[in-house]
Amino acid sequence: MKKTSVVIKKFGNAQSLKIEESELDTNLEPDEVLIDVHYSGINFADIVMRLGLYQDAPPKPFIPGYEVSGKILKVGDHVKNFKVGESVLAGTRFGGYSSVVKAKKTHVLQVPQNYTMEQAGALPVSFMTAYLCLFEIGRIKKSDKVLIDCATGGVGSICLQMLEKIGCETYGLSTTKKKFKNITQYGATPILRNEFKDFPDKDFNFIINSSGSRETTNEHIKHLDLGGQLLYLGVSSMIDNGKKSYLKLAKSLITVPWFLSFGFMMNNYTISGINVLNYFDDPKWAEIVFKKLVEHSYLKPSIGKIYPFDQVSQAHLDLEQSKAVGKLLLHWK
Ligand SMILES: NC(=O)c1ccc[n+]([C@@H]2O[C@H](COP(=O)([O-])OP(=O)(O)OC[C@H]3O[C@@H](n4cnc5c(N)ncnc54)[C@H](OP(=O)(O)O)[C@@H]3O)[C@@H](O)[C@H]2O)c1
Repeated sequence: MKKTSVVIKKFGNAQSLKIEESELDTNLEPDEVLIDVHYSGINFADIVMRLGLYQDAPPKPFIPGYEVSGKILKVGDHVKNFKVGESVLAGTRFGGYSSVVKAKKTHVLQVPQNYTMEQAGALPVSFMTAYLCLFEIGRIKKSDKVLIDCATGGVGSICLQMLEKIGCETYGLSTTKKKFKNITQYGATPILRNEFKDFPDKDFNFIINSSGSRETTNEHIKHLDLGGQLLYLGVSSMIDNGKKSYLKLAKSLITVPWFLSFGFMMNNYTISGINVLNYFDDPKWAEIVFKKLVEHSYLKPSIGKIYPFDQVSQAHLDLEQSKAVGKLLLHWK
C-alpha cells in the first residue's frame, strides 16, 4: 500500500514543499491506530517550520502537520475504543500532511456527532490552543475585557466564539478592515493592528500576543488593567510576507523583551506563554482537552478554504500573505 505526503526536504519558500509517494508501513505499536486521512489542518507554525525557524521540528526530511480527520484503517493490539471504519480526528505532532497517518490512541477522538469531517480536521490544534489559553492559563470570567491579536485565524475564531459564549467584552486585531466582519460576527470589536497603540482603553484583563515583538509587548502591557495578563502565543513578527526576514529576525532577537522581577511587582501584571505541544505530549492533558472539546459542541470552526493536497504551496502562500481567513485545510480524497 502506498501513501502520499507533503515533505520538507530543505527550508525555503512555499514552493519548497514537495509531494512524495512512498511505501506504507502498516505495522502498528499496540497503542496506535492507522488513519485514512480525509483532511489535514494547516497551521501558521507549518510556515515557521518550513522556513527553518521552528526549534521543535524534526530533522529534515520530515512531514509537517499537527492534525487530521479521517477514518480508522487499522488498530493496534491494545486499542479497544476504536473500530475500523470509524470517523475520527487526531493530533499528530508532525506527519499530518499525509494521506495515511499513524497516531497514538490517546491523541484520537471519535468525531463528535455535530461535526462534519471538514470541521473535525479544523478543530484539534485551534481548540486545544484556545481552550488552554483562555480557560487553563487565562482563567477567563464573564467580567473580563479581552484582546485577541490573531483574531481572524483558526485559533482566533475559536477564541472569539468561546469569549462570546462566556459574555466577555472582546476585541480583535487584524491588519485589514476587509477581515473586520470575521471579528464582528462573534460579537467582538475589531481594531486595526497598527492603530492599537493609540487605543484609549487601558483596562484589558487578558491579552493574547501572537507577534512576540518588543514593540507589541510594550503596546499590550500599556493597555493592561491592574493585575492584567499578557500571554505569548506566537512569533509572527519574525515572518514578513512568508519570508524569513533576516532584518526582522535579527530585530526580534535583539529586541526580544526582557523583564525584571522588580518591574512585575511594581506594575502588577502577569506575563505567560504556552507551547501547546508540551501539553499535547502529556496523555493526561490530551484526555482533558478532548473531553472539553466534546463539551464545547457549540463551536463552529471557521473554515476559510479547502485545497487539494497538491495545491499545498498555494495554501501556504495564502496564509503567509494574510489572504486567508479562518482555518485552511488540505483534502486527500
Ligand atoms: N504557542 C503555541 O503552542 C501555538 C499553538 C497554535 C498557534 N500558535 C500561534 O498562534 C497564532 C495564530 O495561529 P493560527 O494557526 O490561528 O494562525 P492562522 O490561522 O494562520 O492565522 C494567522 C493570522 O495572523 C495574522 N498575522 C499576524 N502576523 C502575521 C504575519 N507576519 N504573517 C501572516 N499573518 C499574520 C493574520 O491575520 P490578519 O490578516 O487579520 O492580520 C493571519 O490570518 C500564530 O502566531 C501561531 O504560530 C501558537
